[in-house]
Amino acid sequence: MIIRSVSADGYKNLENINIDLDPKMNIVCGENAQGKTNLIEAVWLCSGCRSFRGTRDKDFIGFEKDSASVGIVFSNSERDQEINFSVKKSFIKDKLVTLNGVKLPLLSKLFGNFRCVVFTPEDLELTKGSPDNRRSFLDLSIAQIKPSYINALNKYNSILMHRNALLKSMSKVKGSNPAYLDVWNEQIAEAGAYISVLRYTFCIILNNYTNRLYNSITDGNENLKLNYQSTIYDDLEGERDFKNKLSKMYIKKLEEATEVDIRSGFTNYGIHRDDIGTFINGLPIREFGSQGQARSAALSMKLAHAEIIKKELGETPVMLLDDVLSELDSKRKKFILNNIEDMQVIITCCDSRSVTDMTNGKVFEMKNGRIV
Ligand SMILES: Nc1ncnc2c1ncn2[C@@H]1O[C@H](COP(=O)(O)OP(=O)(O)OP(=O)(O)O)[C@@H](O)[C@H]1O
Ligand SMILES: [Mg+2]
Repeated sequence: MIIRSVSADGYKNLENINIDLDPKMNIVCGENAQGKTNLIEAVWLCSGCRSFRGTRDKDFIGFEKDSASVGIVFSNSERDQEINFSVKKSFIKDKLVTLNGVKLPLLSKLFGNFRCVVFTPEDLELTKGSPDNRRSFLDLSIAQIKPSYINALNKYNSILMHRNALLKSMSKVKGSNPAYLDVWNEQIAEAGAYISVLRYTFCIILNNYTNRLYNSITDGNENLKLNYQSTIYDDLEGERDFKNKLSKMYIKKLEEATEVDIRSGFTNYGIHRDDIGTFINGLPIREFGSQGQARSAALSMKLAHAEIIKKELGETPVMLLDDVLSELDSKRKKFILNNIEDMQVIITCCDSRSVTDMTNGKVFEMKNGRIV
């Protein structure tokens, strides 16, 4: 996948941006707070994902602007395509989103067309950070290769919300009848069992990739292992029957936890509490990993994500590296660059000297939201 051109105007502080990209290496440099990450974010939104910075729709538009527009022309292995979206301050909810000129109802409907992987300094916390970081990583990675996964997740989250609301009201009344939960248990178990199987299977693939990548970054001296850690199942090996056997086991676990759930007023077990276990030479990284080990493992996970998209979909994603190289030592920098050799890359940095060894490609300078 290659982006041919990017345009943005009125998106946060970006103004009048219209650039043709190099098919391989693109460096966007500039001082702090000039709009480099905003540009990466604008491109990222074209993938149909939510902002990686958690920006809400109403904050898309520049402070003194009435509207914002963003567009990319990109080509996949088949043909040239075009994505555009624009939003007006007076109709925040009503975005105009088009794919090849055809209107789509929502930005999220773009999902599955333009594929990119974004890598920010926060991602280096993937292994040391809290489980929700790893769950988001897992969910996005799976959704990118299997878009229908999002429907299952949305369904799960909506049932979870209902179940939690009921638990909350039950926690306030003494002697509530636990049978009220049955209908939600059944529904949540079916969605949860399906998601567990997909996540478990994906973690096996992920483990193969990260294992090899980590091995090469440590010259074969250390071993990285990842596994899916379910709060419902002890072992999912060989299990696929999410409709019957796994759903029943899920319900059983929820029933065992009924008392705890009612007391706490929310659901304590389920895929919203699961995690990816990460181990170096058998020891959990969160507790025992050094800073360098944690970063290298996170790097391996991110690069594996890109490789999996490439292998599973036969389409090379565009790599967006936001400020990440300046955070890494020269060995890890080289490692990233070696592993994304065949991808188109957009890199942001404050000091273009930090990337001078990548001379072939284009360098853009960002100043005050404009490319100068
Ligand atoms: N809705 C908005 N309208 C106008 N400007 C905005 C909006 N949201 C954020 N900004 C501005 O965008 C600027 C930050 O841009 P960005 O995060 O892209 O900077 P950067 O070049 O990546 O900087 P750094 O090198 O520090 O990461 C800030 O000055 C901020 O005030
Ligand atoms: Mg930035």
